[in-house]
Amino acid sequence: MLIISIAMDENKGIGYKNALPWHLKEELKLFKQNTLHKNIIMGNTTFDNLPRKLVDRHIVVCSLDPEYTVDDPDVEVIYDLDAFIQEHENEEEEYIVCGGASIYRITYPYCKKALISFVKGEYQVDTYFDSFDMNDWNITKEEEYDDFIYRELERKEISLENN
Ligand SMILES: NC(=O)c1ccc[n+]([C@@H]2O[C@H](COP(=O)([O-])OP(=O)(O)OC[C@H]3O[C@@H](n4cnc5c(N)ncnc54)[C@H](OP(=O)(O)O)[C@@H]3O)[C@@H](O)[C@H]2O)c1
Repeated sequence: MLIISIAMDENKGIGYKNALPWHLKEELKLFKQNTLHKNIIMGNTTFDNLPRKLVDRHIVVCSLDPEYTVDDPDVEVIYDLDAFIQEHENEEEEYIVCGGASIYRITYPYCKKALISFVKGEYQVDTYFDSFDMNDWNITKEEEYDDFIYRELERKEISLENN
């Protein structure tokens, strides 16, 4: 199963100059809690710009460049994201999609759950979660923090009756 993990502001902004536009300690804590000892997947721009190594996680990094490699036993590099999605979207094992914009865009239709921090306010950004539509989701959990609202979402079943 593929699960989105993301923080976005009120304009769906998610990044600026290859970094998060904000520094929200509690949000980072939640991210750690949600991903520790799990499989996570991200694009190589996000991976190469991580401020520090994400320990105790199995990290899958996507690249289209066959020369791109990472010398770390916790990191697996994949070059065919479509094949990866096909292989994992319907299995029980969870893969948490951790960005960035291009990887969210490709995986969005196949993610059955989402863990989203809705950051309060509008930040200076150059990257957006443009595929996100709240109409696709039901809220299953909600927690309010000073700077953001954390929601867990489950994809709505598509009703065949309307087709
Ligand atoms: N707010 C949040 O929660 C959050 C989370 C994560 C990231 N971000 C932000 O998102 C921004 C980065 O997003 P981005 O879109 O520029 O970069 P990205 O999605 O992290 O990585 C893009 C790279 O992924 C690889 N890729 C793209 N499509 C692929 C495919 N179909 N198959 C295999 N590999 C593929 C390519 O690597 P090659 O060039 O090697 O081919 C591409 O250059 C940053 O600002 C970051 O801070 C925000």
